[in-house]
Amino acid sequence: MAKAFGKIILAGEHAVVYGYPAIAMTIDLEVRINARLSDKPGLVFLNPQIDPEHKSAGLFVEVLPKLTELLGPRVRELEFQIDSDIPGGCGLGSSAALSVGLIRAVLDFLGESRSSEQIAGMALELEKIFHGNPSGVDHTVIAQEGLIWFQRGHAEKIIPKRPLNFEISMASPHAGTRAAVQAVRHRYDQNPSGTMQIFEAISQLTFDMRRAIEQGDLPEIGRLMTENHALLKKLGVSTDELDALCAQAIQNGALGAKLTGAGGGGCVIALMPK
Ligand code: MEV
Repeated sequence: MAKAFGKIILAGEHAVVYGYPAIAMTIDLEVRINARLSDKPGLVFLNPQIDPEHKSAGLFVEVLPKLTELLGPRVRELEFQIDSDIPGGCGLGSSAALSVGLIRAVLDFLGESRSSEQIAGMALELEKIFHGNPSGVDHTVIAQEGLIWFQRGHAEKIIPKRPLNFEISMASPHAGTRAAVQAVRHRYDQNPSGTMQIFEAISQLTFDMRRAIEQGDLPEIGRLMTENHALLKKLGVSTDELDALCAQAIQNGALGAKLTGAGGGGCVIALMPK
């Protein structure tokens, strides 16, 4: 059984599409995929909630031909049984986990192995089906696992000095990562300098957050998360519901809170004091 975890982004989403850094981490929700020979090859979703967003867009049709291109003709003989804990359309990396999980499932079936970098490279091709022009942060952190710093295709592990505990709360699903990324692109085209200023500020706080993580300064990490949320709101990707969830988390004692992923719905992550 192949597995892939979901992910959260601690800082830098959207700006990362424009070449700025991001910090991302895998979480213990996973997709499980079993690939077996079958006279009815194809994708079988054991959990219909896996990703309504992508299913309805009919994008899954393109996945197996791409997987065949990447891993060879035996893919056409396989039935993929897919079960997932990761809710779709919520910014938790459901499609990237599916991409990485499918590749791992084929490799398991073939009895082959690849490095996490090679798996991430192949997952990028699948992610392009779902998201058009992804930065690569989602499938890279999912392929590598743990906590990473990501910028322009380069990823490195970050070692936190103290454990990071997040609570995740869920708002309504978003309209899709592709739509959110396009909305930001539109904003950028309308107002390049104003949008760049927001990206620069996000980039600065992402560097600061890395330092705070390596120093174990939890209050500072929380403060920077809340600052990141305010900038994402300025960028137009938050919603009243996400803002309210952040405020509530902080009122309940979180050190900081922000939306995670594409926004426009989805999830809020809150850093817990312990
Ligand atoms: C989505 O999880 C993160 C975005 O920055 C898109 C991307 O990086 O491709 C919104």
